[in-house]
Amino acid sequence: MEQKMVSLTIDRIPVTVPEGTTVLEAARSAGIKIPTLCFLKDVNEIGACRVCVVEVKGARSLMASCVYPVSEGMEVLTNTAKVRHSRQLTLELILSNHRMDCLTCARNAHCELRQLAADLGIDAVRYANDQLPPQVEATALHLVRDNSKCILCRRCTAMCRKVQEVGVIGCNDRGFATHVGCAFDRDLAEVDCVSCGQCIVACPTGALAEQDSTAQVMAALHDPNKHVVVGPAPSVRVT
Ligand code: FES
Repeated sequence: MEQKMVSLTIDRIPVTVPEGTTVLEAARSAGIKIPTLCFLKDVNEIGACRVCVVEVKGARSLMASCVYPVSEGMEVLTNTAKVRHSRQLTLELILSNHRMDCLTCARNAHCELRQLAADLGIDAVRYANDQLPPQVEATALHLVRDNSKCILCRRCTAMCRKVQEVGVIGCNDRGFATHVGCAFDRDLAEVDCVSCGQCIVACPTGALAEQDSTAQVMAALHDPNKHVVVGPAPSVRVT
């Protein structure tokens, strides 16, 4: 059966795409860039971070383009002052709950969060939480998790569950206490993680890093207030 096509305008450019396409994909097909953070095509399409918001004529609020389907005659604007302000504010709030030790972070040169902040012109965070302590878990042989850098985009959990079909990590607790980890907060070394490392690849920040690129762990280990538990070599846990 022939696929129904939908025509709309994005930034006043006429675009025609198959029905069911999201605004984000439609924009990309027209060469229009919309920033994203939690979005990972075909893996994590949950509209969580709201960095990709756009203005849709007639809609009462900004819409997350990564999960908003196109419709006939839709008029989308991706780069208005309102959109840019919303993205900046959203990112500032995300950064306010992210430990920023960028200079020593394993992700330093290829951090999506840092790049996005630069793209959006954010050079200071009004709500920064300078006291955020490291929350390092390094019991697995292959990776180190530091939840103080996790932005809860859930890309790692989607990768583990939907792509690798392992599903050993997920979101625990609710509200401000929400954090990514194993069920009942067990250590990664205690569950059936297959050490594929795909969660590290999916992570847009330094919340997940390979064991041998762990400047962040070393920083935590040198903190006299941290309690270090050494597991099967070379694993350690810092609490
Ligand atoms: Fe669309 Fe996160 S990228 S909500």
